[in-house]
Amino acid sequence: MIIELKNIEKINKSAFQTDLINWFKYEQRDLPWRKDQDPYKIWVSEIMLQQTRVDTVIPYFNRFIEWFPTIEDLAEAEEDKVLKAWEGLGYYSRVRNLQSAVKEVKEKYSGIVPNNPEDIAGLKGVGPYTAGAILSIAYGIPEPAVDGNVMRVFSRVLSIWEDIAKSSSRKIFEKAVRELISHDDPSSFNQALMELGALICTPTSPSCLLCPVREHCQGFEEGVQNELPIKTKKNKTRNVQLAAAVLLDGNGKVLIHKRPATGLLANLWEFPNVEIHHPLQNDREQIIDLFEHTLNIKVKLEKIIGQLEHVFSHLVWNINVYTGTFHSDFQESDEWKFVSLEEMKEFAFPVSYQKMLRLYLERQKE
Ligand code: ADE
Repeated sequence: MIIELKNIEKINKSAFQTDLINWFKYEQRDLPWRKDQDPYKIWVSEIMLQQTRVDTVIPYFNRFIEWFPTIEDLAEAEEDKVLKAWEGLGYYSRVRNLQSAVKEVKEKYSGIVPNNPEDIAGLKGVGPYTAGAILSIAYGIPEPAVDGNVMRVFSRVLSIWEDIAKSSSRKIFEKAVRELISHDDPSSFNQALMELGALICTPTSPSCLLCPVREHCQGFEEGVQNELPIKTKKNKTRNVQLAAAVLLDGNGKVLIHKRPATGLLANLWEFPNVEIHHPLQNDREQIIDLFEHTLNIKVKLEKIIGQLEHVFSHLVWNINVYTGTFHSDFQESDEWKFVSLEEMKEFAFPVSYQKMLRLYLERQKE
């Protein structure tokens, strides 16, 4: 496919690069992954920064690097500990893929992150954006690193009216970056675009008066900066009704369950729960039956202690939370454990289940 970028000729390439990079040199935020060019740390940061805000990522990044300072440390770590380090960040397949990829780097590339597009893009979880970010930031290779922020910036700079929600649009923006990227300092160029998207060229009301590349910006010149980018809404999310229970045995231990190794929140821990397919079934006896038939546990449910909502990108959980007890003849296994509240801290729980625990502890105090 031949992609035409009709406005690219209007940009004075070297002036654009200089204005952008000089601004970045003065204005960049002091972020922990900018302290050195270790490809492993850049990689970890870029994976964390997908779908997650910089402020949230900072403490997670610091702790992750403290726990797993090198490729070898992460390759050899227990998966449970790795999930614990990611607990609360969401999109847990990111870290499972990261660990698989790091193992591959250790075995296949002697622990050195590849510095060419073909090998690096072959690693699990490393898409074109992450590949470009690592190659440019860690190795100074002029490859594009195009995410939603960069598409927003370039749709304004070049007045591109393509829908950035469509996956086919990324190619257009990669071409634009390839044409404009600085070959002297690709690292600063790509990071400057990210920084511009975060600080100035924000989704709503961009701060054009503060923008270092305003005089190059076609969107600003045409007065359409607030109309760009074009981004259609994604499909609506699905609602799922769940009943979950904090179940105790006679000794004050709580029953927890490890989620399956594939699918949503794979291998994280949770309180036993069942999906209620028909709201009419949302009745205590029926829920007890569901626990028995789907999870093979006999339970006694007491009061409902609250309702929680948890929003994922594609679905919403509505959870009714119960307390109760379970039958003492139930056996522990790899997937089922009885733990004290203290021991629970060692297991990685999704945020929704942390909220559930808090709800339970608050009700205990009342
Ligand atoms: N967003 C994605 N990558 C980033 C980076 N390296 N620095 C700041 N924000 C980012």
